[in-house]
Amino acid sequence: MILVLLGAPGAGKGTQAEALSAATGAAHVATGDLFRAEISAGSPLGVAAKEFIDAGQLVPDEVTINMIQARLARPDAATRVILDGFPRNPAQAAALDAAYAASTRAIRAVLLKVDRAVLLERLTARRVCPSCGRSYHLLSRPPKSPGVCDVCATTLITRSDDAPETVAARLANQLAALDSVVDLYRATGRLAVVDGVGPIDEVQARLAAAAAAAGLTA
Ligand code: AP5
Ligand code: MG
Ligand code: ZN
Repeated sequence: MILVLLGAPGAGKGTQAEALSAATGAAHVATGDLFRAEISAGSPLGVAAKEFIDAGQLVPDEVTINMIQARLARPDAATRVILDGFPRNPAQAAALDAAYAASTRAIRAVLLKVDRAVLLERLTARRVCPSCGRSYHLLSRPPKSPGVCDVCATTLITRSDDAPETVAARLANQLAALDSVVDLYRATGRLAVVDGVGPIDEVQARLAAAAAAAGLTA
């Protein structure tokens, strides 16, 4: 099955997808992480995507859909996938449905619901590992040793799109498209909503229950 994890910027998709992937063995596929890897590699796709990402805008659909389809064709994504950051507009949702229309794989969505004021606070206090992609938060999820990734000991950075003006642009530009994707999954009976506010492990327990109800178990 494919579990689509929906949520606004900073809702906790990456944090929760990492935990759900560890608990279930499903592959964690995140479009933002794929773009950041392309940017680090200096590829033409990365160069093109960076301009949109740093402006807080969605990368054009053609680029994004081709990239995700190539990723989903890899062997580790053959059975169970947690999709983080895709689809992000109705055209992307339609492309995902079309790609699996002839298969028996179910596509279900879970929305991590978080208020805007909380999103701003989470994004401005976030630090990330440029090597393994793990997210930290200065207060709610600090690394064990300040400024260093717990998993791979790389020095943590602030994401370039977490600058306050870019955070504002991301929220202004992207929330309406998220709402239309939520509406689409709701209208087709494929949506569950999880309260994304509260301690990370409590949100994790709620998400695990919703994912299990949607068919994603260990
Ligand atoms: P992407 O990397 O996907 O960014 P995003 O959607 O804006 O989401 P974030 O990664 O910022 O937040 P998150 O929900 O993963 O939260 P996290 O777990 O880190 O995309 C980046 C850009 O790429 C986009 O803006 C766009 O330009 C482009 N892009 C990506 N996908 C695309 C697509 N499909 N189409 C077109 N363009 C695309 O948590 C946030 C913080 O909160 C962390 O500090 C964390 O420690 C903390 N936290 C998490 N949970 C809790 C909790 N329960 N309590 C307290 N703190 C918490
Ligand atoms: Mg993320
Ligand atoms: Zn790391």
